[in-house]
Amino acid sequence: MVRIGIVGMGRIVMEWAHLYQYQQLTDICEITAICDIDEKKLNEAGDKMGIPQEYRFTDYRDLIACDKVDAVDIATWNCNHCEIAEAAVAAGKPYSVEKPVGMNYTETKHLYEVTQEKGIPSFICLSWRYRNYPRYMRYLVLGGKMGKIFHVNVRCIKDSGLWAGRCREWRFERKKAGSGVLCDLGSHMIDVVRFLGQEFREVFASTGIFIKERPSEETGELVPVDTDDWCNITAHLESEASCTIQLSRTAATFPSLVEIEILGETGRMLYVNANGKDSLTFTDAKTKETEDLVPPEEFSAIQSRSFVNLVNGIEDEYTAKLAQGVECQAVIDAALLSSTENRPILISAIKDGTEAVKQ
Ligand SMILES: NC(=O)c1ccc[n+]([C@@H]2O[C@H](COP(=O)([O-])OP(=O)(O)OC[C@H]3O[C@@H](n4cnc5c(N)ncnc54)[C@H](O)[C@@H]3O)[C@@H](O)[C@H]2O)c1
Repeated sequence: MVRIGIVGMGRIVMEWAHLYQYQQLTDICEITAICDIDEKKLNEAGDKMGIPQEYRFTDYRDLIACDKVDAVDIATWNCNHCEIAEAAVAAGKPYSVEKPVGMNYTETKHLYEVTQEKGIPSFICLSWRYRNYPRYMRYLVLGGKMGKIFHVNVRCIKDSGLWAGRCREWRFERKKAGSGVLCDLGSHMIDVVRFLGQEFREVFASTGIFIKERPSEETGELVPVDTDDWCNITAHLESEASCTIQLSRTAATFPSLVEIEILGETGRMLYVNANGKDSLTFTDAKTKETEDLVPPEEFSAIQSRSFVNLVNGIEDEYTAKLAQGVECQAVIDAALLSSTENRPILISAIKDGTEAVKQ
């Protein structure tokens, strides 16, 4: 039984994913301790989960030191992921970290190196690897269904930045988030392209902010926003395929739309997730006929199970190990630098340190 301590009791833990997933895994893990700097959130979460008062912490160092915690789940703002993960490494405890791994490639790579030195299992929540449709697409694409791939076109657009009265939360502040939709939605979409067997060689990106001020969470006064509402990336992939990624949180009328289109020598594969509903089709290049593809049951997965398995030394080709997050961060940094300097950036230059984002 792996005893998990969670740091950051916000929406991704309490509403969207982690708690719900751990609750399905009571045969292999239990949540024994929680931490949040916000005492109200901490106690609401603790009451909901039945965590005794002595295992509710406001300082992550106390949670990591707690002898009832075997592994640490980090789901705080992006700006403190690496610091908390490094503290887990120092204590010899495996960890999972939410995406993006960190604020930039330099700190992300450093985390990776110290983790490797100590041989600590480390996991990154690249959640799209745990959805059945992308897993099935990977199986088909790597199995050769598309032949040579010419184009990969990805779209992830939402109206979440247009919610009436939405405050200037941490994700609208560059010093806490790193970037806007680029690292938020982009982490997943960049990873999906890599998950389909493609590596990025060079990117050119543009970004913009439409809603330049939002109400402060504390005072309600309008305060500046400095993270991107939209980002368009065009990329050359190592395979010579071209790639486009469109990201937006100002897409009026779209609660959530994700499209992944692959154009290859055998035809066109199109995945659509519209407001949570999936579809996948393949259109044959010769016959022009379109078939629906549905993932068999074996492609279903639970992200948190993969983390607990990794802690127990079990992994497979889909496991989102930290290294995948580090690769993803290099592409995010290249896109961010490209958008500020209006020129294409090689991923290899980010990795060897000849190019770096300025923060
Ligand atoms: N995998 C996904 O699909 C997905 C979806 C949404 C969010 N996320 C990621 O999850 C993370 C959290 O996002 P969220 O939407 O839950 O945000 P949130 O604001 O709802 O929750 C974050 C929580 O972290 C707490 N916190 C901040 N610094 C802390 C610290 N030093 N110690 C303890 N607690 C601290 C905050 O008080 C807050 O309660 C982000 O990194 C985000 O990118 C991932």
